[in-house]
Amino acid sequence: MEKLFVFDTTLRDGEQVPGCQLNTIEKIQVAQALENLGVDVIEAGFPVSSPGDFNSVVEISKAVTWPTICALTRAVEKDIDAAADALKFAKHKRIHTGIGTSPYHIQYKFNSTQEEILERAIACTKYAKRYVEDVEFYCEDAGRTDNEYLARVVEAVIKAGATVVNIPDTTGYCLPAEYGEKIRFLMENVKGIEKAVLSTHCHNDLGMATANTISGVLNGARQVEVTINGIGERAGNTSLEEVAMILKSHREIGIDTNINTRNIYPISRMVSSLMNMPVQPNKAIVGRNAFAHSSGIHQDGVLKNRESYEIIDPIDVGLDANTIALTARSGRAALKHRLQLLGVELNQDKLDKVYEQFLLLADRKKTITDDDVLLLAGKDRTESHRIKLEYLQVTSGVGVRPVASIGLNIAGEKFEAAASGNGPVDAAIKALKQIIRRKMTIQEFLIQAINRGSDDTGKVHMQVEHEGVNYYGFSANTDIIAAAVEAYIDAINKFVK
Ligand code: KIV
Ligand code: ZN
Repeated sequence: MEKLFVFDTTLRDGEQVPGCQLNTIEKIQVAQALENLGVDVIEAGFPVSSPGDFNSVVEISKAVTWPTICALTRAVEKDIDAAADALKFAKHKRIHTGIGTSPYHIQYKFNSTQEEILERAIACTKYAKRYVEDVEFYCEDAGRTDNEYLARVVEAVIKAGATVVNIPDTTGYCLPAEYGEKIRFLMENVKGIEKAVLSTHCHNDLGMATANTISGVLNGARQVEVTINGIGERAGNTSLEEVAMILKSHREIGIDTNINTRNIYPISRMVSSLMNMPVQPNKAIVGRNAFAHSSGIHQDGVLKNRESYEIIDPIDVGLDANTIALTARSGRAALKHRLQLLGVELNQDKLDKVYEQFLLLADRKKTITDDDVLLLAGKDRTESHRIKLEYLQVTSGVGVRPVASIGLNIAGEKFEAAASGNGPVDAAIKALKQIIRRKMTIQEFLIQAINRGSDDTGKVHMQVEHEGVNYYGFSANTDIIAAAVEAYIDAINKFVK
């Protein structure tokens, strides 16, 4: 079996999704889970873009041992300086630098020429090489770059020292055959190609990211850039779990990854929960329905022989059919075990607190799901908040005007107010606005049930606008009115300091 390198960019390209940003502690948690999953490279961030990103690259470099830690830059010296500085603690490090090579980028973004861009590509590769041996160069929008010119750029950067060359289909435009031909063209026409690895980086705008990635691999690429659950800006990136399971299911391809596929499901849940990004139920490999057979004919077939309708054994992706259901009677050990399966390690103190919350929730819900458990484990994200909800009482129904009374604790001081509105959430928010007298408007308000059943936990995502800036808030609660108010408070905590 030939080896395919897996480059995970969940924490860089994946994390660019508006409203899904992680803090450094959460990023470390994901990076450690990626290490356990067996990825070869973790793209940890874009250090020059913000102090937060810089710090995350530093901390992930300290927290992770085996995978190479990679930092993104533009073809700009100060970006490369920042990346080198952020990577100082990494045991294996890589700088990922590059520039747009398509006519759209050269003419409109840079108002430049092909020759000037070629010079900048060589210069930034050489500059990065001063700091690290392992330099990856990206030809942004390679998908729409003419193959002859692309080959000149790839050849020049390999000569300048690039160890990996990334061929991104930045806009998700290519057809699988076209993307595969591009990789083949480079493999056959670039002098010195054997000194570097070609990498795929496919976006999913037309739903072809995984197909394009596999086509690239079949034509000679030996690194794939992917994210957990395929998250990423717009329609997302290629999903790691799909590529890993395609290669595992099609042994005849003769290419394998280092991915421990049994860790796929836990990390999928972890990323979805930390980023508050639900996985679509019919998502391949990790969607809730990926292994659920509802038609009678299918159920009958699977019971007789699983392989009649299933090409993947759910156990191979970490879905354990025998997982013990968590209920109000489950003990701390069962909760701890489930958290460990989901990739979350808690100290005794934190486990006790989560267990308390777990029992309260279990009193309200028959069965506690993995999503519930992950939400409980992340609950203390609000502990440092200046504004906290003390109580909320709402009266609403048919033929009455909804009324809400609310109690807030603001930096230790208690405030109360009451108001009516055209619905229970409106009434509660009007009451809250009598206490916090800022100009703020809800721009987006999304309520989702996580699983099914009337006792389910509802998740609320909210965007609140204040002085021209949108602030994101999130909460989950079996009471959806409370979840809405908590999400609103989560958002305003980000600007009321
Ligand atoms: O999609 C893209 O082109 C990228 C590069 C910055 C690598 O993410
Ligand atoms: Zn990208």
